[in-house]
Amino acid sequence: MDFSIKSGSPEKQRTACVIVGIFSTRRLSNPAKAIDIASKQHISTLIRRGDMDGEKGQKLLLHNVPGVMADRVLLIGCGKEREVNDRNYRTIIENSICALDKTGALEGINYLSELNVKGRDCSWKVKQAVEVAEHTLYKFNELKSKNKESRRPLRKITYTVPTRRELSKCETAIKLAQAIANGIKLSRDLANYPSNICTPNYLAQKAIKLGKNQTSLTVKILEESDMEKLGMGSLLSVSRGSSEPAKLITLEYKGKGAKKSQKPIAIIGKGVTFDTGGISIKPSQAMDEMKYDMCGAASVIGTISAVTELELPINIVGIIPTTENMPSGTATKPGDIFTSMSGQTIEVLNTDAEGRLILCDAITYSKKFNPEVVIDIATLTGACVVALGKHATGLLSNHNSLARELINAGEESGDRAWQLPLWDEYQQQLNSPFADIANIGGRDAGTITAACFLSRFAEKLQWAHLDIAGTAWTSGSKKGATGRPVPLLMQYILNKIK
Ligand code: BES
Ligand code: MN
Ligand code: ZN
Repeated sequence: MDFSIKSGSPEKQRTACVIVGIFSTRRLSNPAKAIDIASKQHISTLIRRGDMDGEKGQKLLLHNVPGVMADRVLLIGCGKEREVNDRNYRTIIENSICALDKTGALEGINYLSELNVKGRDCSWKVKQAVEVAEHTLYKFNELKSKNKESRRPLRKITYTVPTRRELSKCETAIKLAQAIANGIKLSRDLANYPSNICTPNYLAQKAIKLGKNQTSLTVKILEESDMEKLGMGSLLSVSRGSSEPAKLITLEYKGKGAKKSQKPIAIIGKGVTFDTGGISIKPSQAMDEMKYDMCGAASVIGTISAVTELELPINIVGIIPTTENMPSGTATKPGDIFTSMSGQTIEVLNTDAEGRLILCDAITYSKKFNPEVVIDIATLTGACVVALGKHATGLLSNHNSLARELINAGEESGDRAWQLPLWDEYQQQLNSPFADIANIGGRDAGTITAACFLSRFAEKLQWAHLDIAGTAWTSGSKKGATGRPVPLLMQYILNKIK
C-alpha cells in the first residue's frame, strides 16, 4: 500500500473517498463540520433523521455530496469524543480501512488521523494508522489455487494532519511505520506457512536471502555437526526425533551509524517449525496450530528485516534455534538426560517442554557476542494463555530496568506485555533427583517455571523472556499469525537509539 500525508480542507479534496468521523451522540468532528458547511447541512440533516448517531462501529457511505469535490464521503462512528484512547483509536482506524476497502475506491483521504488521542502526538497517530491499515488489509492467499491475487483496487491511503507544520514529522513517521509493517508482514507470512513448507531449512534460506546484498547484515547457519562440536546437547536432544535437520541461524546487523564499541542487543527466537510434543505427544485437538511454534523466530526475522530496511544506527544480533519436535525411534524419551552447552545436565521429563531445551543453548551461545542485553521470544507455555489470554505477552526478566523498558515499548506500540514474577521460590520446582535440573516444574505456575529454567542459563546476563504463546496468532474463523511482538521489539530498539 502507498501511504502519504497531507493537510487541507476535506470538501476541497479531489479524491475517490474522504473519510471523516462522527462522535456520539450525533456530534460532528471538525472535518465533518467542514463538509457539512460546504454541503449546506447535508451531513447534519442525515444525522438528525437518524441515519447515524456516531456510535463505535457505525459507518455510512455517501455519494455525490453537494459542494464536495470527492466522489464519496465515508462517515465513521467514533464513539464518545473523550473516550478516544489508544485502543479505540486503533479500532476506529481499522473500521475505516475495512469500509474504505469495500467501497471500490482506488484511494482515499482519511481525516481520522486528526482525532484527539490522550497523550499522543500526530507522529504517533500517523504511525499507528499506517500499521493498523497494513494489518487490516493483510491476507494470506499464497497457497490457494484460485483468487491468489485478492481483489484490491485500493492502492493509496492519505492521512491528514491539522496544519502544514506537522507534515515533515509525519512523513518520517510514515516511512518508519511502513518498514515496521513490512517486518510484521514478513513475520506473519513465515508463520502462516505450514510446517511442510516452513521447515528449519526454509527459515535458514529466508535468513540468508535477507542478508544478500546487505553490507550491514551477516547471516550464518550452524549445522547439527557444528552444534555437536559446541556441545549443544540440549538443542540436539529435541531435533534427534526428526528427519529435518536442525539449524542455528545468526543474523548480525551492524548499523552504519552505530559506535563500533556498542555491544549488540541479542534477540533469540524459538523456531520449532512444528511441535507434536515428541514422545510426550500432544492431543490432536488444534494440533495444526503448532505450526505457529516458530513465531518467536519469525518475529526475530521480521524485526531484523525492519531494522535493516531503516538502516538504524545500532548493533543487533538475531539468534534462531530451529527444529521440529517429532516422535520417532530416535526421539528423546522421558527421563533421558543431556548435557547442555553450559555444562549443566538436564533431565527431560516431558519432551513437550522442548522450547526451553533449544533456547537454553541459544542463550549460552549468545554470550559469544558479548551482548548488552538478551531478549528471547517464544511460544513457550500454554499456561501463559491461561494466565494472560490473547491480549498480553508474558514478560519475565532478571533485570528490572530492562523489564520496564519492554513494558513501556509495549504500551507505546500497542503491543503490550505484562510482567510475571521470577522469584527464587519457584526455582525449586525444577529440582531433579538425577540431573542438575529438570525440564518441567509441575502444574503450578507453568510460565514462571519455564522462565526459571531459562534463567539458569542467563546468569550474569541482562536478560528478558517474552512468552508469546497467547499473542502470536489468533485461532477460530480468523486464524492467522499476528506478527507480534515485532511492534514491541521495534519500539524498544527505537527507544534505545533515541
Ligand atoms: N509450544 C508449546 C506451548 C504452547 C501450547 C503454545 C499451546 C501455545 C499454545 C510448548 O512447547 C509446550 O508444549 N509447552 C508445554 C509445557 C509443559 C509440558 C510443561 C505446555 O504448555 O503444555
Ligand atoms: Mn511443546
Ligand atoms: Zn513448543
